[in-house]
Amino acid sequence: MQKAVKNQWSSRWMFILAATGSAVGLGNIWKFPYITGENGGGAFVLVYLLCVALIGIPVMMAEIMLGRRGGGSPINTMRVLAKEAKRHPIWGLLGWMGMLAGIIILSYYSVIAGWTLAYIPLMASDHFHGMDAQAVADTFDAFTGNPWWLLLCHTAIIFLTLMVVAKGVCGLEKAVRFLMPALFLILLILDGYAYSRGAFSQGLDFLFASDFSKLSANSVLIAMGHAFFTLSLGMGAIMVYGAYLPKEVSITQVSITIAAADTLVALLAGIAIFPIVFANGLPADSGPGLIFTTLPLAFSHMAGGAVFGSLFFVLLLFAALTSTISLVEPAVAWLGESKGMSRKNAAILCGIFSWALGLLTVFSFNKLSDVKPLFDKTFFDIFDYLAANILLPLGGLAIAVFAAWSLDHHMRHDELNTQHDWFVCWLFVLRYITPIAIFIIFLHAIGIFA
Ligand code: PFF
Repeated sequence: MQKAVKNQWSSRWMFILAATGSAVGLGNIWKFPYITGENGGGAFVLVYLLCVALIGIPVMMAEIMLGRRGGGSPINTMRVLAKEAKRHPIWGLLGWMGMLAGIIILSYYSVIAGWTLAYIPLMASDHFHGMDAQAVADTFDAFTGNPWWLLLCHTAIIFLTLMVVAKGVCGLEKAVRFLMPALFLILLILDGYAYSRGAFSQGLDFLFASDFSKLSANSVLIAMGHAFFTLSLGMGAIMVYGAYLPKEVSITQVSITIAAADTLVALLAGIAIFPIVFANGLPADSGPGLIFTTLPLAFSHMAGGAVFGSLFFVLLLFAALTSTISLVEPAVAWLGESKGMSRKNAAILCGIFSWALGLLTVFSFNKLSDVKPLFDKTFFDIFDYLAANILLPLGGLAIAVFAAWSLDHHMRHDELNTQHDWFVCWLFVLRYITPIAIFIIFLHAIGIFA
């Protein structure tokens, strides 16, 4: 088949790093701890881990497989593959939905990444030195209460994203090569701090002791939605990265490696945060501000805290940027292929849309914090809900159904090129388990919005 995409990763490791860069981001370090806190801890974590294994890994394998086979942007990949499999061209809609999800996620993700940016100088100047938990929380509230600061940071993140995207695959490669290992290292340092100074066993109990009485049906659905979000699945980001993957690389191996690295980072973040939360009598369910009110507290009491603290937020910022660039990649690849746009112009166009939509998230934390247009949710909550719990699962469902039922069997076999038993097992899960589970999430989402 003719490959539409000329870009290629320079090695299997570069693909793993870039896809891990897309997966590892605010979802692991900012979102995972706060939704775990809001949903009661251990039992939620267990369901989330099950979802990563039973839904996440099979869908990731399918998404990479489709991407490599189609070799283009998700819209064109789906069109080409549907044609090859003699299916309806309507499958191209999957690519459109992914592009939309990417723009929506970027719009609020960049606002939160902007908080990370703002915390770098605060940490470096030792702003939190000697503060108690209340004072750290007040600083956070004062910052998010000021729309101009949030706007400035949001704009800076969109701008940084566009600069990397405009450079293409080699820009992505350079960005992720050192950052992932460094982030991992600093999380380990934070875990060491939590072990020596935090309420470590209480924190671990909260994270790993499964008390199912605290688990509501809604929590199960949030855990499943988060599995998609954290692995960057269901919107074509991993599909378009797969399009740049050389043929000889094992899709099974890279998928398991990426999912394992992503899960490890989330767990390391949780292990660092909850002991600090409990040692300081903070509420575990304090929502999106959780890491911004706990980690500065830890750093302010640590020897060399200003250095480690600013380094941590720098790395988190880079982790966020390696995710934001993958959010626009499906749209940028499509605008290039189908409209002949340069990467730079395509990136600017996507950036403008996300920036403008992001204003609603900026104001959700201040001027519009009382405006809750749907189900008592702010605009930020609605965008996050719509993307993580509706668009991504719907995209994942379509990917699973197309890959498991519509594609020609030989093509699947040839592209996956894995051991027979493993192939049969993957196909079974993707055909039956994954779609049923995703369907349940989706019904729930409609139920809430209907
Ligand atoms: N996986 C990213 C995170 O956990 O922060 C967020 C994300 C990136 C979601 C790219 C979806 C995506 F396509």
